[in-house]
Amino acid sequence: MEANLIKMTDFYESDRAVAEYLLFHYGSAGQVLPWAFGPAGALDYPVRCVSECLEMARLPARPRALDLGCAVGRSTFELARHCSEVIGMDYSHRFIEVARHLQQHGSVSYAYVEEGRLTTPATAKVPAEIHRDRVTFEQGDAQAMRPDLGTFDVLLMANLVDRLPDPRRCLGSLSSLVRAGGQVILTTPCTWLEDYTARPHWLGGFEENGRPVRTLQTLQALLEPHFTLARTLDLPFLIREHARKFQWSVAQATVWIRR
Ligand SMILES: C[S@@+](CC[C@H](N)C(=O)[O-])C[C@H]1O[C@@H](n2cnc3c(N)ncnc32)[C@H](O)[C@@H]1O
Repeated sequence: MEANLIKMTDFYESDRAVAEYLLFHYGSAGQVLPWAFGPAGALDYPVRCVSECLEMARLPARPRALDLGCAVGRSTFELARHCSEVIGMDYSHRFIEVARHLQQHGSVSYAYVEEGRLTTPATAKVPAEIHRDRVTFEQGDAQAMRPDLGTFDVLLMANLVDRLPDPRRCLGSLSSLVRAGGQVILTTPCTWLEDYTARPHWLGGFEENGRPVRTLQTLQALLEPHFTLARTLDLPFLIREHARKFQWSVAQATVWIRR
């Protein structure tokens, strides 16, 4: 498990990851996808994880939210449009450092790759209308969160579970983190890789007793004792590596209500 954690942090602490995620979270359509024939419906994923998945009618007064695996924080800021207090947590010190800079200053300069060593300078900006003072960022491990985090009305886990060494450990803590009537928004492209998660800890993508096991069915087995599955959605997303190379993926999003 430790070896996996080290490989994972190597990438998410790198300059390349910081630039890719700033572009993924804050880049304009023209910056991310300079091709008119490209999959424009996959843009703005960290915004859509909130705008398309959050069940706004269920929010109580002064809702409290947690964005686990927040990276450079765009969904955390988007949650602050609807919630009066939002914590963004990530294991990467670099991501949290950049997210805190965005919280304090509203923008950060960076450069994204065009080809090889050629880059284009850019500025990532938090939309001006978002109340940045509702947001805090902290470094932490989603599998071993500090015990005094409190409880939440909204818990977002976007593309996190298939990057954890032990996703069951994280999922096992959700029932005590989410208030009755609160919601968990969990998205995953189900990209199970041994670099991040040793095979015995995968939630899906293998055969057991001659039958295929899918991530969704394991999530149901783990969460249904405490949560009701309200909705499933397919959310495309696009991560630009350089001007001519992209990762186009389709996350499976599920929204769970705490009983
Ligand atoms: C695939 S990225 C997704 C980031 C963001 N939620 C998004 O959708 O763009 C996975 C994120 O999970 C973070 N992460 C990995 N392991 C973690 C852990 N044990 N605790 C908290 N965050 C973790 C990584 O640093 C990275 O920011």
